[in-house]
Amino acid sequence: MNEDVKKALNKQINMEMFSSYLYLSMAADFIDKNLPGFAKWMGMQAGEENSHAMKIFHYLAERGARIELEAIDAPKKSWGTPLEAFKEALAHEQKVTASIGKIVDLAREKKDHATEVFLQWFVTEQVEEEANATDNVVKLEMAKDNTGALYMLDRELGMRKSD
Ligand code: FEO
Repeated sequence: MNEDVKKALNKQINMEMFSSYLYLSMAADFIDKNLPGFAKWMGMQAGEENSHAMKIFHYLAERGARIELEAIDAPKKSWGTPLEAFKEALAHEQKVTASIGKIVDLAREKKDHATEVFLQWFVTEQVEEEANATDNVVKLEMAKDNTGALYMLDRELGMRKSD
């Protein structure tokens, strides 16, 4: 495998693991703030991010490329409001989308067709990830400081089932 593509995929593993850690930290903050539904949603999202990292892990293994794991940055521990947390999650997903896009471009440039095809799954997944994150932000913006609406939203997000 091309050295630059291999490096970029290894870096993406780290980004997905950081995403998992970030969302787990948000889940911990929601638990602390007595919002179990939001916590459940974020905890499940953390699990999904872990599975994204593993997808790349297995792909590199299949291609006979060296997997190199680096340190995962510590995430923030606390957010002022649920809206702040979900807004940050949306901004983070936009960064992930940009990162995936760059690797697709790189794979194309290096004529690594297999990686380009492999990454199509992530391109599609990011559309869903951003849509979900946007949906949560819009709902929280509607709820504003209304505790009743926040309670209902917490219940709604707590009903998330595994995809
Ligand atoms: Fe794996 Fe949410 O991007």
